[in-house]
Amino acid sequence: MSRQETILSMEPAEAPKPNSLELSRQRLIVALDVPDAKSAMRLVAELEGTCTWFKVGLELFVAEGPAVLEPIIARDNNVFLDLKLHDIPNTVAGAVRSAAGLGVRMLTVHAGGGPAMLTAAKDALAGFAHPPELLAVTVLTSMDAAELHAVGMERAPSDQVRMLAKMGLESGIRGFVCSSQEVELIRTLTGPEGILVIPGIRPAGAAIGDQKRVAGPADALRRGASFLVVGRPITQAVDPVKAAISILGEMAEVVQI
Ligand code: C5P
Repeated sequence: MSRQETILSMEPAEAPKPNSLELSRQRLIVALDVPDAKSAMRLVAELEGTCTWFKVGLELFVAEGPAVLEPIIARDNNVFLDLKLHDIPNTVAGAVRSAAGLGVRMLTVHAGGGPAMLTAAKDALAGFAHPPELLAVTVLTSMDAAELHAVGMERAPSDQVRMLAKMGLESGIRGFVCSSQEVELIRTLTGPEGILVIPGIRPAGAAIGDQKRVAGPADALRRGASFLVVGRPITQAVDPVKAAISILGEMAEVVQI
């Protein structure tokens, strides 16, 4: 079984073959960008019959600490801890070790931390029986060419993403966060083994907000995404379950049984 099949497979071997809606559920990650545990658990309780993955990011983790993960994991959900670590190699390695013991299934570091930091992060997971998949964030989906230029990066976003992904691969990383616009190019670099996690997903009619490099759910999957991250189009919808079901429906049109 490939790495991607391993992380995508949530069902025991003897379970009936999941249909395309069920497979879509295994590939949709809801971003819990809320200020406190109470709001997070309200969303989890509401959505968990529909969604199986939840992302805890900086807003919630800084407010509540690791304790916020426990009730989400205890209810049999998969948790992606999106801390986007970026520091000197020794510090990031320590943070990765601390996070790896929390029972999360994915963890992010910034690819921009450089090869030594990425290698230290990867090496820090050695010895854990069930380490999280380490994902390197390439270029934030909220950044376009003008934003990159403002921080002194003159390459086009796709060239910057390609360079960072190559560097990540050389450091032993196989999971990347990028926008839907770069999925195909990273997929050609990683092959089917790559775990490509795509935020900036906007179903038709949804507000774009601060995101810049966006795509619809079906489009991102068609281009080669492994997982889609969706926050506000679900969490700020009048009916989050209805919004999630609608996105899953769009995904199911593309996901192969
Ligand atoms: O609300 P929205 O769907 O825009 O949320 C996207 C989520 O994905 C946020 O939690 C954000 O932190 C995260 N993310 C991103 N761009 C990246 C990496 C992560 O938007 N490159």
